[in-house]
Amino acid sequence: MATTTIITPLQLLFCVCVCLTFCSASSSEATVPVGYGYTISAVNSYPTSISLTANLNLVKASSVFGPDLPYLSLAASFENKDRLRVRITDSNNQRWEIPQQVIPRGSPSHYYPLYFLNSERGFQHSLTLTHPHSDLVFTLHNTTPFGFTVSRKSSNDVLFNTAPDPSNPETFLVFKDQYLQLSSSLPPQRASLYGLGEHTKSSFKLQPNQTLTLWNADIGSDNLDVNLYGSHPFYLDVRSPTFDGRVKAGTSHGVLLLNSNGMDIVYGGDRITYKVIGGVFDLYFFAGSSPELVLEQYTELIGRPASMPYWSFGFHQCRWGYKNVSDLEGVVANYAKQGIPLEVMWTDIDYMDAFKDFTLDPINFPLDKMRSFVDTLHKNGQKYVLILDPGISVNDSYATYVRGLKADAYIKRDGVNYLGEVWPGPVYYPDFLNPRSQAFWGDEIKLFRDMLPFDGLWLDMNELSNFITSPPIENSTLDNPPYKINNREVLGSINYKTVPATSLHYANISEYNVHNLYGLLESKVTNKVLVDITGKRPFILSRSTYVSSGKYAAHWTGDNAATWNDLAYSIPSILNSGIFGIPMVGADICGFGRNTTEELCERWIQLGAFYPFARDHSELNSIRQELYIWDSVASSARKVLGLRYRLLPYFYTLMYEAHTKGTPIARPLFFSFPEDVTTYEINSQFLLGKGVLVSPVLQSEATNVDAYFPKGIWFDLFNVSSSVNAESGKYVTLDAPSDHINVHVGEGNILALQGEAMTTEAARKTAFQLVVVISSSINSYGQVYLDDGEAIDIAGVKDQWTLVRFFGTLNNNSVDVTSKVTNGRFALDQRWIINNVTFLGIPKHQRLNTMDLAGNGSNIVNGTVSMRKAVVMSQFDCSSKFVNVQVSNLSLLIGEEFKLEIEIK
Ligand code: GLC
Repeated sequence: MATTTIITPLQLLFCVCVCLTFCSASSSEATVPVGYGYTISAVNSYPTSISLTANLNLVKASSVFGPDLPYLSLAASFENKDRLRVRITDSNNQRWEIPQQVIPRGSPSHYYPLYFLNSERGFQHSLTLTHPHSDLVFTLHNTTPFGFTVSRKSSNDVLFNTAPDPSNPETFLVFKDQYLQLSSSLPPQRASLYGLGEHTKSSFKLQPNQTLTLWNADIGSDNLDVNLYGSHPFYLDVRSPTFDGRVKAGTSHGVLLLNSNGMDIVYGGDRITYKVIGGVFDLYFFAGSSPELVLEQYTELIGRPASMPYWSFGFHQCRWGYKNVSDLEGVVANYAKQGIPLEVMWTDIDYMDAFKDFTLDPINFPLDKMRSFVDTLHKNGQKYVLILDPGISVNDSYATYVRGLKADAYIKRDGVNYLGEVWPGPVYYPDFLNPRSQAFWGDEIKLFRDMLPFDGLWLDMNELSNFITSPPIENSTLDNPPYKINNREVLGSINYKTVPATSLHYANISEYNVHNLYGLLESKVTNKVLVDITGKRPFILSRSTYVSSGKYAAHWTGDNAATWNDLAYSIPSILNSGIFGIPMVGADICGFGRNTTEELCERWIQLGAFYPFARDHSELNSIRQELYIWDSVASSARKVLGLRYRLLPYFYTLMYEAHTKGTPIARPLFFSFPEDVTTYEINSQFLLGKGVLVSPVLQSEATNVDAYFPKGIWFDLFNVSSSVNAESGKYVTLDAPSDHINVHVGEGNILALQGEAMTTEAARKTAFQLVVVISSSINSYGQVYLDDGEAIDIAGVKDQWTLVRFFGTLNNNSVDVTSKVTNGRFALDQRWIINNVTFLGIPKHQRLNTMDLAGNGSNIVNGTVSMRKAVVMSQFDCSSKFVNVQVSNLSLLIGEEFKLEIEIK
């Protein structure tokens, strides 16, 4: 491809200045620039087109971290009105990019005929690319070095700005084979960034002056600020308002760098700099402009989160170190005896014979006993999930191993299967990129499930974890790349305790390039296998994740510790997972490592009961921490899990929303209150959906909690007569005695709840109760999605699901709630009824007193039937400002539309 460089006199002057800066800087070793940036040599773009391409020429060669690529191509295109893609790669050679089969997405835009800069169509200073319906604008700046910006049409707010700062070579675009650098300035006071994980952080909002390393590693999540199990080069940027009102508070966009190679992301508050050791720059900008819309647009590209079975929202019990089948049976029996709901019993590696996948320990977990254990669970409406590690024990008498050898299923290095070491000792690792290995893995799962009908799979150690570090291959720049990412915070080798970068996958793809994809690939293959085998919605829990893992699996935050800090950090971690498109997430309740305490475990179940995924799990040799061990914990567990089970239809409907729109289940407060900048800093509370606010105790010995309440009236879900009235957002000190967590529902929300029960199956058989929180400023809204809880397609075949939307209104002399039903047949067949409707927050009328209310008239129409014999009760809330009205004995069919109106005279 022909290239020409046109330099104007002004640019020449600029070049000279830049050169002078560099020349003086280069005298010191430490400041030798890694590169000098690129200029635009040619651009092509049709005036009406929604994409453009540009040729880039290197300004000047550098040698730090290897030679620069002389010619690059940049393509900017609107893939739709909300998504702008900017891709920069080598003009001459194809480079590593995530294969389409792994993450399906659009192909880069086509190249149009070139218009050189000296042609009539050339541009002197800048060239913009717009889309008639998009708020995003892409601008190429013809400077030396060149830069580009992404800004908003509506406000001119600059979202991403790679215009180099001539005094700072760290801001230049650098593109070498194994070192790619791209930097954007950010408005320091107005940009709040979230995401870029996986890391354990004390603060959900990213704090300036840190390096975020993305390289999947088996590092316990009790380690702060180091690279952990997953890699998600995605951030959400929530903007504070401008003084002139141009930009509204909470205007949000998202940025994804779709690149699977190891990287450091340096966040300075006023700047973000990517330093990547391979691949290309493939940037996606999501226009938002609300946080919810960013997630919708992000998951539209990467894949919507998997639907999860209804049962997976029940409570799960796990432990590393259960001794035998009677131990398991004892745990299940103790839960029942103590009246604490237990939905799923798990087994860790203890069940295996010498830690070999797809085997059972013949002495402690023999097949006949395990079968009858699992059968009994199933009879009681409970489930069983077991662990699988990817490493296959190298052992000639182990049938799985032999079949893997025959299938040639393992990752190679130097022409032979790569030998690592995990729990069973020496192992080979299946190569999930290889169709033969996918079939091998699927066959093994099938064989094992034919033997033992488990309900879900737990994929651990898939970073890949390796207990040994193999020596590098001499002179290999894969094992020993020129730029050292901050792996494990110590500039450790990328090979440290994992499969070495020089190992090879299918089609000679190096581990160097696909390392971060292993957990995703394993989840994807396993998901497909389980769908094929069971014909049902699979439940898979994966420790390692990458962009789009949420499409296949749930996630837990890994090996935390039983400390108060870890309890607190679990909130930023679950919120981040939601932002990464993995909404089904939880942390090990009561703490994994170290010995928990009664007080910590009680506070942890109070919080954990509201994680989307709620599992108690502990490490071998730590003390037992099942919820029945301490009376206080047991009693708190009954209380909070009682509320969780009443909220199951709400959790499940949030999962439906996540699956169809990408919105997380557990959300930061700013998702519902983007206009309130105080919410941007909150680390210790979260929302379930739009309107259930969880405000846990996170400190030892605390008996109250300073909770932030965004604007509105909030009702305590454990005691609805207690409310907080926040005319504008405010902090309130709430009582939180040891047996209590504060959970509030905000005005304008309608919740469809069911009754408490010991299993989700039993809870689903109870009548519904509607909680309608009246608002004097907005109409109230809520919805419930109902299906059999395990069909593969969500909202698939018409008569197999029902969606009911509820609308609540405050009128002059009445309050009402009505429903709109889509596909009522399914709900009618289940005979689901609403027995009870509670209106919360009816403003106290001047002449209203409790006597008037008790004798209230009510008007109820359900389908074609009008007026039932309902009991109406009312009372003032504790503040005496609101009246709460409960209408019971209703028997409204949820599958049929209804209107219920209560007069307030
Ligand atoms: C890893 C997992 C942990 C599990 C243990 C034993 O540390 O993260 O959850 O219990 O391995 O399998």
